[in-house]
Amino acid sequence: MEKIRWQNSLSIGIDLIDNQHKQWIEHYNDIVDSLTSQQNRSQISKTLGFLIDYTEGHFSSEEKYMSATKYPGLPEHKAKHDELRATLATLVKEFEEEGATTQLSNAVDTFLGHWLIKHIHEVDMKFGAFVKENKIILS
Ligand SMILES: [Fe+2]
Ligand SMILES: [Fe+2]
Repeated sequence: MEKIRWQNSLSIGIDLIDNQHKQWIEHYNDIVDSLTSQQNRSQISKTLGFLIDYTEGHFSSEEKYMSATKYPGLPEHKAKHDELRATLATLVKEFEEEGATTQLSNAVDTFLGHWLIKHIHEVDMKFGAFVKENKIILS
């Protein structure tokens, strides 16, 4: 599993959201550290907890902005968030039952890391374009 590095191509053009993505990446990298350095169970559980809380906060915040700006893509976007919410719940359950297995590391890498990058590029980016097109200032 590899850490994610922020790069400008990930910017969706909304500072508030870009900053949240940067934070999300840091939490993601923390979980990569925890899993690759084989930290103890309670440390991994804590890191995973931070990531989950942050993810929920971020998703709610994006959905709030989309709703406030009457973004027509909201239902579709929210459905993608809901998929990841469900995936995270499954990952936590697996971790609680099996501990930090190789499968868990692979799942974090694929379902979180790759998902996040793809989601920013393909889904969040559309909202960024909408905000720009309509000259909306988010605060
Ligand atoms: Fe996002
Ligand atoms: Fe999103």
